[in-house]
Order: sequence, then structure tokens, then C-alpha cells
Amino acid sequence: MALYSEKVMDHFRNPRNVGVIEDADGIGEVGNAKCGDIMKMYLKIKDDTIEDVKFETFGCGSAIASSSMATELIKGKPVADAMQLTNKAVAEALDGLPDYKMHCSVLAEEAIQSALEDYYKKHPEKAPAKE
Ligand code: FES
Repeated sequence: MALYSEKVMDHFRNPRNVGVIEDADGIGEVGNAKCGDIMKMYLKIKDDTIEDVKFETFGCGSAIASSSMATELIKGKPVADAMQLTNKAVAEALDGLPDYKMHCSVLAEEAIQSALEDYYKKHPEKAPAKE
């Protein structure tokens, strides 16, 4: 069996939503200390919806595919849904990642979380009530 699914290869070769949003409402940057890969997410949020999302990833193919897929999964969705996005969902949408590459999808989850935290810091009135 091939190491990577066709979807991983597709998103790696033709990543969706690559770039920068100049007037982003939330920006998140995370890295993995072990491999040194870095992922940056930009969110444009309007009416509690992810109106636009872009990313820059300096990392391995799985990290690029994961960020690309993650942006596809949250684009146009309510912010509440983006909050719930897990790395497992990203990996599943890619038809799986090898075990030792799962941490690449974790980076995508963390980058989105971090961008949302940044958004809530700038817009505390939008932050979900703490339980
Ligand atoms: Fe570290 Fe992929 S090898 S993010």
C-alpha cells in the first residue's frame, strides 16, 4: 500500500488556501519543536462565520496537506464548528496519515485554535462563556 493516500498527495501538490490575509481577524502560529515545522493560519471572520482562511506552512508534505485540508474543512463554517475541529478529523478527511505523521495534523488543529484565541483576544465580546 502506498504510504500516503491520494488525497494527501493531492493537497500536498495543490494546496488550497495558501497565502496571507492582510487584515486577518485572527492569526495563529504554532510549531513542533521536534521536527521544527511551523504553521501559520489567518482567519477572516464575519457574522460568527469563517469567511476566509489562509495558511503558510514551512514544513513537511503531511503538514502542508493537513493545513490545506483543515482550511477546506472550516471555510464558510460557523466559528463554533472550527473550534471543534480535531486533528483526527483532518487526518480522516485526508484518508489517513501514517502514525508517525499524525503530529503534522495536530499542528493544523493547534494553528486554528491559536488563530481563534487571537480572534477572541481582539474581540472578547465574542468569546464563548467559560463554564
Ligand atoms: Fe513535523 Fe510533519 S514532520 S509537521
